[in-house]
Amino acid sequence: MRALWRPRTFVFAYFFCSTAGILWLVLNYNSLCSQMGSSGGNHKHPYLMHAINQDYKEKQTFLHDTEQQLKEDRKNLQGLAVRLRQQYPDAVGEITDSINPRNKSLPTIYAVTPTHTRPVQKAELTRIAQSFLHVRNFHWIVVEDANRKSSLVINFLKNSGMKYTHLNFKTPEQYKLGKNDPNWLKPRGVEQRNTAIEWLLKNVDATKNPGVVYFADDDNTYGLQIFDEMRDTQKVSMWPVGLVGGQMYESPRVDKKTGQIIGFNVGWEPARPYPMDMAGFAINLKLLQEKPFAKFDLKAKRGYLESSLLVNLIKIEDLEPKADMCTKIYVWHTRTEKPKLKYDVKETDIRIEV
Ligand code: UGA
Ligand code: MN
Repeated sequence: MRALWRPRTFVFAYFFCSTAGILWLVLNYNSLCSQMGSSGGNHKHPYLMHAINQDYKEKQTFLHDTEQQLKEDRKNLQGLAVRLRQQYPDAVGEITDSINPRNKSLPTIYAVTPTHTRPVQKAELTRIAQSFLHVRNFHWIVVEDANRKSSLVINFLKNSGMKYTHLNFKTPEQYKLGKNDPNWLKPRGVEQRNTAIEWLLKNVDATKNPGVVYFADDDNTYGLQIFDEMRDTQKVSMWPVGLVGGQMYESPRVDKKTGQIIGFNVGWEPARPYPMDMAGFAINLKLLQEKPFAKFDLKAKRGYLESSLLVNLIKIEDLEPKADMCTKIYVWHTRTEKPKLKYDVKETDIRIEV
């Protein structure tokens, strides 16, 4: 027993205990640090995790609230923009111009739309107006085939948010389609387009305010790219039109080497001077003002209406091919089916504009 408590034994015991203590400290260092809130640890302590979760949740709620607020603000701004467009058609354009002054120098696109009263009229006008609203520096000339401007079109234009001019000209009775005539029997929209040309000659000075004229029928479908393509028309530009002339598309033929239009890929009446649909070309306003006698011919043979104007303006070699050398379709000659109204009640107390 005495031998066991010798001083050497004490030294050994002391050495053993202190080594075990250091070992324990090293092994438990991390958890000790986190308990004391030190940043050296792994942050696994439940109190700390709770605080972090709480903070995270608060930030998430804040982000969610901010997102809701932004959505609401955006909705209000959109409503404001619509009202602004309605009250001051030029305002939105002017604000955008002041932000991006380059827009101001863009030539105006004057789109001429002949239109006539029929069940689908408002639907057609709505559809194309909502494309046109996206186009910069755009002036819509709507010409009704009527003796008087109709309240439907007057109100429609007033609420459209477009910059527009509303005109009317009634096609003489002998040139008007009969109720049961096939629609190709007589040319349509002729005097309406000529009325718009007259208005443009009288009211715009193309040398001061450059412009491009496009004849945009109310039943076609317009891709926005076509307006970018036509904007820099020097004389007359041309491009393919989809779903027309008994083909998926009709197109000018471009010489790949020279980049010039040298003919047309059309099946129907290829002998026409310019066998292209109305939707397939645009004209620099200056050119129309230089040739004030160039008009559409009311007596033009079927399919020759477009040519009747173009032959007085240009030669084929001067045509400017657009839409990637006439390889892209940005406009379609769609035609809306005539609705069947067999069950329509004509006289009702409540008259709703359709
Ligand atoms: C095709 C062309 O796409 C037209 O540009 C061209 O005027 C017509 O042939 C023609 O050869 O006269 P299509 O689809 O058959 O067109 O004609 P519509 O779309 O029925 O009429 C062309 C435009 O004239 C439309 O904007 C239409 O609203 C208007 N229109 C039609 C009138 O203003 N009055 C009418 O009595 C009929
Ligand atoms: Mn049409």
